[in-house]
Amino acid sequence: MSDRYAVIGRPINHTKSPLIHGLFAQASHQQLAYGAIEGTLDGFEAQVLQFREGGGLGMNITAPFKLRAFELADRRSERAQLARAANALKFEDGRIVAENFDGIGLLRDIEENFGEPLRNRRVLMLGAGGAVRGALLPFLQAGPRELVIANRDMAKALALRNELDHPRLRISRYEELQGQAFDIVVNATSASLTGELPPLPGAVLGEARLAYELAYGKGLTPFLDLAREQGVARLADGVGMLVEQAAEAFAWWRGVRPGTRAVIDQLTIPLE
Ligand code: ATR
Repeated sequence: MSDRYAVIGRPINHTKSPLIHGLFAQASHQQLAYGAIEGTLDGFEAQVLQFREGGGLGMNITAPFKLRAFELADRRSERAQLARAANALKFEDGRIVAENFDGIGLLRDIEENFGEPLRNRRVLMLGAGGAVRGALLPFLQAGPRELVIANRDMAKALALRNELDHPRLRISRYEELQGQAFDIVVNATSASLTGELPPLPGAVLGEARLAYELAYGKGLTPFLDLAREQGVARLADGVGMLVEQAAEAFAWWRGVRPGTRAVIDQLTIPLE
């Protein structure tokens, strides 16, 4: 029998993970089966344990179970701890190990695929929820000149700042961004899911080289539209992040890091 893996979430019908991991397995000549499980709100933990009992070796976790997966684990990586969320689990030696590859996946997409290293750059991230928490450590480790986190709810941003006091990390209100310039701007809010735009003042995107929207498959969101209007040269949605975080999980489970370019190309939906 093939080694077994699965993604669990709710809803799960739109997941691309089985496709992505199937392509990785094919390209790296690995034998594995990767399924999708619709999680239940009252039975998530039991479903994970059951999958492990059935011989499962690892799982990807998607909304709304990332926090519960994190809590279920016996061991947690540092970045999972800061994110307070797990997007991947590994079952080994009778233990459940939690990881979070969302932030590193985003970072790799920006640095490797878009060719925009963060070192010495001014980076702006919008939001202070789970997506930002997951990205903070990898982003700071990449050595930006400054990483500014802007959020409407300042208490949430302050709480983040208190957990991770780093000389390059600054939190800001949206209105305080007026007149500032950034090289890379990432929209890690959930505003695009409801067709909204974070309250960015003036032409704050004007000097950016890259505007990155975390939502995949949402097309030209209000944020990307604004970035285009303000002349940002390159617009990105989350397809590369999706594939890169999957490659990290694959490497963690299988010890082989698959190539990502062909898979990203296959999944890319033109923005317009
Ligand atoms: P996720 O795990 O996807 O990051 P979350 O933890 O619910 O989701 O966080 C959502 C983030 O999107 C928050 O930072 C939220 O801002 P507030 O904390 O100020 O509420 C942000 N957000 C949602 N809708 C927004 C909007 N219309 N404009 C700006 N920020 C928005």
